Amino acid sequence: MKWYSLLFLLLSDYASCRIINNVRLVDHTSYMINVITQTMHNVEKMGWCNLKLPDYTLQINENILLAPFRGSVRYTNGFVSSIQHVDIIQSTVQQNWRYNASAESTHTATVSGTMRLHDVAVGFDVIGHLQGDNKEYHYTAVYVHPLITYAFTIIRDVFTEALSVTVVGTVPRTVRTAEFRPKDNTSDIFLQTFDSFNVSASGMLAWANDVFQPITLNVVKKEIPFPSICYNCAT
Ligand SMILES: *[C@@H]1O[C@H](CO)[C@@H](O)[C@H](O)[C@H]1NC(C)=O
Ligand SMILES: *[C@@H]1O[C@H](CO)[C@@H](O)[C@H](O)[C@H]1NC(C)=O
Ligand SMILES: *[C@@H]1O[C@H](CO)[C@@H](O)[C@H](O)[C@H]1NC(C)=O
Repeated sequence: MKWYSLLFLLLSDYASCRIINNVRLVDHTSYMINVITQTMHNVEKMGWCNLKLPDYTLQINENILLAPFRGSVRYTNGFVSSIQHVDIIQSTVQQNWRYNASAESTHTATVSGTMRLHDVAVGFDVIGHLQGDNKEYHYTAVYVHPLITYAFTIIRDVFTEALSVTVVGTVPRTVRTAEFRPKDNTSDIFLQTFDSFNVSASGMLAWANDVFQPITLNVVKKEIPFPSICYNCAT
């Protein structure tokens, strides 16, 4: 491909780690939108239930309506049952060209963009114990997590054409109440101590590497071709 030699001449004038401006990817915006859309399509095809949450155990040690309660409650088998809405923040969709002499890939073109998941419904099995009786209490709990964001970056080595992907999640601290079933005086105690952020955040952050990253890597390698490159073109 002829642009390689042109690009090499151009790049070799640059000091390390400069951002390169004269080369552009054609329509990186559509590319990023298509990659994220296809990723989520593949996740949905597998089933949202593959978005799992690790077990979380909460120690209870507090006074509720002046009565002391001690015990523990375990949230287990957590998974997503539905996602209300997925979108991409348009202003985050960007392309970058970099020359970095100390990196393994010295010349890279990256496309990045941030996806938002809105109103993610999460369900758990709940197993609780209270000090002072020998019972094990069983419930299910469901709550709706308002917002999770994932920043995707597709990195292409300009010379070898090797592709890699990074995904970084952010879970804003919000606390939502849950609905317990069945509902009784003990589930009300567990509900008082429920903290949706503590129960879910680490698992939601882990989806970035455990779920989205490998699926997106497969999408960019096999399903959606990287944008073509325009040298010395009008923006
Ligand atoms: C260049 O690459 C090195 C090695 O991977 C990395 O530590 C450094 O942060 C990179 N510099 C820039 C500006 O990206
Ligand atoms: C719940 O109600 C039952 C029956 O009314 C009572 O025996 C039990 O002590 C109550 N449990 C708690 C944790 O308040
Ligand atoms: C949630 O985690 C924070 C930080 O680790 C902690 O301070 C807080 O007490 C936890 N909340 C519950 C209900 O466990």
